Amino acid sequence: MSSLRLLENAPLVSRNTLRVAARAELLAEVRGRAALDELLGYAGVRSGPLLVLGQGSNLLLAGDPQGLVVQLDLRGISILHEDADSALVRAEAGVGWNDFVHWTLGRRLEGLENLALIPGHVGAAPVQNIGAYGVEVGEFIATVEVFDRASGQMCRLDRAACGFAYRDSVFKREPERWIVLAVEFRLPRRHALRTDYAGIGEELSAMGIDAPRAAHVAEAVIRLRTRKLPDPAQIGNAGSFFKNPQVETAAAEALRAEHPQLPVYPAADPTQRKLSAAWMIQTCGWKGHRDGDAGISERHALVLVNHGHATGAQLLDLARRVAASVYQRFGVAIEPEPRIIGATW
Ligand code: EPU
Repeated sequence: MSSLRLLENAPLVSRNTLRVAARAELLAEVRGRAALDELLGYAGVRSGPLLVLGQGSNLLLAGDPQGLVVQLDLRGISILHEDADSALVRAEAGVGWNDFVHWTLGRRLEGLENLALIPGHVGAAPVQNIGAYGVEVGEFIATVEVFDRASGQMCRLDRAACGFAYRDSVFKREPERWIVLAVEFRLPRRHALRTDYAGIGEELSAMGIDAPRAAHVAEAVIRLRTRKLPDPAQIGNAGSFFKNPQVETAAAEALRAEHPQLPVYPAADPTQRKLSAAWMIQTCGWKGHRDGDAGISERHALVLVNHGHATGAQLLDLARRVAASVYQRFGVAIEPEPRIIGATW
């Protein structure tokens, strides 16, 4: 059932969750490992511009992508090894992330419950080091299998080699170099559930749960996300468009003195603090703002939305104006989380 389909001048509007109407010069749809081997035989995969699409949920197409666009339809989940404490689980890059989370929970494996309902494919999870409700996926990743375009070889990177940081990894720092093919996760059978992030405890209480299991935490996360974030099936968006900025602790304290309501969180680096970009954007008056079809969600100030036919350039222009106003008011530079194609930030 392996097949490789090559499409010229392919429309991408239904292949990116911001629903931007860009086109690919050449799109390769890769179904199965044999098709992947065939694709890797082409020179265009080894050098030249390349975009691996996944579900297109973390992407702003500000112009048409040059060169080759690859969509990997590689499926399959398997347990490679298990013992009394944990299991090593492998998922191919094209498996839907939320389906994978539920597959693991259905086998009573824990760890990924706080990451339920994040859009996208498994292959994108390490690139972005997806995170939510106090958990980042990198902590559960054992190995990432990739095609390295620099060496022209398949290779396996262990967690340390992936260089995970807040919404960041080696794959994101050199996006043209790597094609993620599969991810292996080390998942505990029982671990200390993270229910301390704002909102989760309250949601569990509202559900009438006082001794939660991982599946309950996932359910609480799903309820919170459904309420707080716009659904890409209803309105084009790419989740948080901005990252929460990190600043020196002293700078965070100075801002906090001036704006006592600004939410400030610890950062991985103990000399720094993370600031709530959503709060700053909302305070600048952007929440629910709309310029034609480009807008900022009325549900969550971090989310850039496409009300219909906004172009990538219009969305990027709005995002830049939002960032400029936050900088003017707070002196803090906020940066985009999605990959931007066809323009620089
Ligand atoms: N807030 C506002 N206005 C808003 C939304 C939030 O002022 O419109 C303030 C509130 O004070 C709220 C605080 O911001 O208490 C934090 O809000 P939230 O819990 O939604 O978290 P966030 O920092 O805005 C991050 C992630 C989300 C993730 C949530 C929950 C980033 C860039 N975003 O948002 O991730 O779901 O935490 O863990 O780190 C994504 O990456 O696409 C994404 C949605």
